[in-house]
Amino acid sequence: MLILGIESSCDECSVAVVEDGKKILSNVIATQIDLHRPFMGVVPEIASRIHTEWIYPVVEESLEKAGVKKEDLHGIAVTNRPGLVGSLLVGLSFAKGLSWSLGIPFIGVDHIRAHLYAPHLEYEIEYPYLGLLVSGGHTIISKVSGFDDIEVMGTTIDDACGEAFDKVAKFYNFGYPGGVIIDKMSSQGDSRAFQFPKPNLHKGNHTYDVSYSGLKTAVINQLDQFHNKEYEKTPENIAASFQKTAIDILMKRLKKAIKNTGINRVVSGGGVTANTYFRKTISEIYGIEAYYPSLELCTDNGAMIAAIGYHYLNKGIYSGFETNAMARVASFRRKYP
Ligand code: KG4
Ligand code: ZN
Repeated sequence: MLILGIESSCDECSVAVVEDGKKILSNVIATQIDLHRPFMGVVPEIASRIHTEWIYPVVEESLEKAGVKKEDLHGIAVTNRPGLVGSLLVGLSFAKGLSWSLGIPFIGVDHIRAHLYAPHLEYEIEYPYLGLLVSGGHTIISKVSGFDDIEVMGTTIDDACGEAFDKVAKFYNFGYPGGVIIDKMSSQGDSRAFQFPKPNLHKGNHTYDVSYSGLKTAVINQLDQFHNKEYEKTPENIAASFQKTAIDILMKRLKKAIKNTGINRVVSGGGVTANTYFRKTISEIYGIEAYYPSLELCTDNGAMIAAIGYHYLNKGIYSGFETNAMARVASFRRKYP
């Protein structure tokens, strides 16, 4: 079954052709990063206009690279939630038009679920597992029992992990995009230079929740307070100390989830899983099977959309033309305290 996957939820215009939810025949990723750099963040109006210009050539390039004619496609999968509505609408409208003209079904898929599914493109992974989604907009610890069966155990109560990377980088003018730059700078810095605080979420039902606004405030407004005077106050040292704390916050909660559930298989996805320290740390957790995507599949891409879309379409589950784009999703079950 050949599925075309379309991703346009943010600043990546990406289209892939994936066979049977597993074999990537093409995965074209056209990034708008250079166009948003002058603003140090994604400008929604620019993003949607550029998607409108790029979507057609990106689809054509993806089909050509895959060696597939559009008439050979069996279905289309497209991100329709969550994300920037204007940008989502470009991909969704294109998918609807192509679906109608070719007489094949399309399915609107959830971007977050697709991120968590990305490692399945590269590894044979059995269910259940603990799913760790760490992106620019979301930070979720979950129990995953099937490609579409996700129980949220914990989330961030304020900023997302990737958002904290982006905001710290923006404040200190480190460059854009923030996560990648902080990762690079950290390799030249010493994480012992600042002892930033970790959130203390022991009260209430926050067993697996995380918080990043306290760390962000400490790094931005209270630098002196947490400075270890034996080390210099360099940008690289700030980056390394922040990065270590941001990832350690996540790992502490993950280890708790592993211990309490007895599930020792962990699958992660989303932009922050590209982080060097994240990859090293999760690989070193004792006694677990840890999966994370190769770098190209960590950040936004059409292949993960096509791969998860295949499972819906293969079961005869597809979307109607009334399907709309949604900025947010509230569809996850939250079971654990
Ligand atoms: O999954 P993604 O491409 O888009 C969303 O769905 O949000 O994730 C983007 C996020 C951004 O916040 C970006 O700064 C972060 O992932 N990111 C990183 C790295 N690469 C991307 N954060 C830390 N280290 C990286 N190497
Ligand atoms: Zn994403």
